[in-house]
Amino acid sequence: MSNLHQFEVVVVGAGGAGLMAGLYASRTAKTAVISKLYPTRSHTGAAQGGVGAALGNLEEDHPEWHTFDTVKGSDYLGDQDAIEFMCEEAVPAIYELEHMGLPFDRTPDGKISQRPFGGHTNNVTGKPVRRACHAADRTGHMILQTLYQQCLKNNVTFYDEFQVLDLIMSNGKAAGVIAVELATGELHTFHAKAVIIATGGHGRIWEITSNAYAYTGDGPAITLRHGLPLEDMEFFQFHPTGIYKLGILITEGVRGEGGVLLNGKGERFMERYAPKVKDLASRDVISRAMYMEMAEGRGINGQNYLYLDVRPETVNKYAALDGRTNPDGSPYRVTGEQILAKLPDIVDFCRVYLGVDPVTQPMPVQPTAHYTMGGIPTNKFGEALADEKGTVVPGLYAAGEVACVSVHGANRLGTNSLLDLVVFGKYAGLRAAEYAKGADFPPLPADAGDYIQEHLSRLRSGTGKENAFDIAREMKKVMFDHVGIFRVEAGMQQALQKIRELQERYKHVSVTDTGKIFNTELISAWELGNLLDLAEVITVCCLNRTESRGGHARDDYPKRDDVNWLKHTMIWKRNGQLQIGYKPVTITKYQPKERTY
Ligand code: FUM
Repeated sequence: MSNLHQFEVVVVGAGGAGLMAGLYASRTAKTAVISKLYPTRSHTGAAQGGVGAALGNLEEDHPEWHTFDTVKGSDYLGDQDAIEFMCEEAVPAIYELEHMGLPFDRTPDGKISQRPFGGHTNNVTGKPVRRACHAADRTGHMILQTLYQQCLKNNVTFYDEFQVLDLIMSNGKAAGVIAVELATGELHTFHAKAVIIATGGHGRIWEITSNAYAYTGDGPAITLRHGLPLEDMEFFQFHPTGIYKLGILITEGVRGEGGVLLNGKGERFMERYAPKVKDLASRDVISRAMYMEMAEGRGINGQNYLYLDVRPETVNKYAALDGRTNPDGSPYRVTGEQILAKLPDIVDFCRVYLGVDPVTQPMPVQPTAHYTMGGIPTNKFGEALADEKGTVVPGLYAAGEVACVSVHGANRLGTNSLLDLVVFGKYAGLRAAEYAKGADFPPLPADAGDYIQEHLSRLRSGTGKENAFDIAREMKKVMFDHVGIFRVEAGMQQALQKIRELQERYKHVSVTDTGKIFNTELISAWELGNLLDLAEVITVCCLNRTESRGGHARDDYPKRDDVNWLKHTMIWKRNGQLQIGYKPVTITKYQPKERTY
């Protein structure tokens, strides 16, 4: 085997979860982090508004309130033991990041500053609470920079711009990965005792998305091919505020700072859908409300977008109507300079991409495909699970958006993505290193790498007439139209048929660039195979769940059905066929209730 490397722990992905896992694993085990990107370009950098932790720096707050809000936000599908664990761990995790050097914004008395975010409430009054710890609107970016510096300091070995193409399994245990070095086109074998998958989400399945080009579901597509299950794949979150047509994220922090959503009649329509917290309801609730406003002809100029307005005069008007106050009890007011200081990236994005200045003009927005709640099932120590009984796959771990712990259930609360990757990245790293210390290197199967070599050479030497770009475009459109914010049986059946047709056409894709050096056309074609596999899985799971819950809203089954559906979906691909199973939701303190905001 040429280009053979050996590490005790190999981490795939260098976003927040991968870096945190790498950092913790490297304390006791020889660790490599492999990433298709340069690490600080990872998609964690696009998370803007904050990371949730009940520090209570500006007003009363408790991890228990954070736990309840997360359970409620998840539409009661989140596993409550894992949610409690995450919300308790949140507080020390933030101080740890602070001590690593993360430049959080500060209160006047020097504490970490916090802002309100959707679904975060004072559990007594039901009013929004300031829980999101932020570094302007660049919180994810700062986490990434901080963790990368720490990893370098701790001698983690990085393989940047190496695309992992396959997992090596040996007698049921993870034994490493196969990757291609993008600069040379050479395949490399990474032999490992433990593999941590931290490849992020798969939002590129949809036409309008806030997700980076790199978010192509590589990790779950690979594990699915190895016969391992995926969990709760029907649950995908649409963030309410993407830039119209482009999908680029406009942080919920805008609404945290007092921005409001307005329809074509100039109405603050969230007053009707969520009378208590209005523009700070959970994302599934707001995205659906926006969709309904537009469907009923109340988009701006009757079109498919609405306004997000953070102009000081608008913020101050609605803050006065809501009776919003500062922590010292004085009336909440903002100036243009303060908006600029708190939301510099948002102001920049809108100026650059739209020619709109948010300090003086409202921003045109529409819901955008944002976050994968489902993924590779794990326990709270990041150990990947083989079945609904919780059997662990020896040596295999997952953390961050790619994993389903499940702390987000049917809908994730804003700021809990960054929290998830910091907390569970750490535990996956610790557990993987501990396992590696007690394990031998599994033997490398002689055929490791054969499957992927065959697949790449078929794409390179194919004579088929299909073009990967056309197939991707058609997939994104049908998924956005029929497996998006609202879903019905007939539309989803149409989407499934289309996806299966596209999978057939994909077999006839050939690439025009047959070279080795930075062959991005070849890699994109390989990534498209992953997206198509996951699009099929998602659509099958959506058709199967005949209820509405969190991010999965069915017009034909509009109610949540706890009698039949308070359970997680598991899905496997066996002998080319998708098979569905279930596992119970862990409920500790909070019995399911109807959600109101
Ligand atoms: O709105 C935002 O800043 C996004 C944060 C998140 O997805 O948690």
